[in-house]
Amino acid sequence: MRVVVFISGRGSNLQALRERQENYTISHVICNHAQAAGLQIARDFDIPSTVIPWRDTDQAEAQALALLREINPDLIVLAGFMRVLSAGFVANFQFKIINIHPSLLPLYPGLNTHQRALNDRQSKHGATVHYVDQHLDQGHSISQCHINITAKDTAETLAARLLSKEHKLLTTTVNKIASGEIYWQDNQLFYNNQVITQPIVWSNI
Ligand code: GRF
Repeated sequence: MRVVVFISGRGSNLQALRERQENYTISHVICNHAQAAGLQIARDFDIPSTVIPWRDTDQAEAQALALLREINPDLIVLAGFMRVLSAGFVANFQFKIINIHPSLLPLYPGLNTHQRALNDRQSKHGATVHYVDQHLDQGHSISQCHINITAKDTAETLAARLLSKEHKLLTTTVNKIASGEIYWQDNQLFYNNQVITQPIVWSNI
């Protein structure tokens, strides 16, 4: 399976995806910041990359679309990509774009998820891998991981503790999509040939 990864910054999820790839290859990285640290990770692994500045959304999406038509990926993974893709763009890749979001969706779509969970005195927090549709962070959830929030936690400690689990969640999910264990069919999510109505939670993540 050919995967294209979209990033905006650090690229730790990209690195995890590359290091833990079993059933897929990363064909290309698309990044909206020329200075993003994640671009060096792509270079270190000899993954071709393209910077698309995304100053003008229409122009950027047209450029990304032309590139993606050439590459023809099976899956697009948004891994810390901080731009919202338009409904028109997403419509080209129905159930072929997934995103990792640092909250237990449907809680806390958008930004500052860790602080918002703390403000609400939640006892649990987590991350979600979901399909991308035209609504921000609202596409069908695929999988989730959880962490407990303690009295000492800050937004920073939560983000740090969650990140290593995000890496496992995203790489496991992509490997299982690539192996055909997770798939979307007839408006339903399947895992191991069973219809899944709740996000998948793996006991070891
Ligand atoms: C991750 O926490 C991801 O959930 C969020 O942005 C962060 C990206 O980190 N959407 P990295 O660039 O993969 O290190």
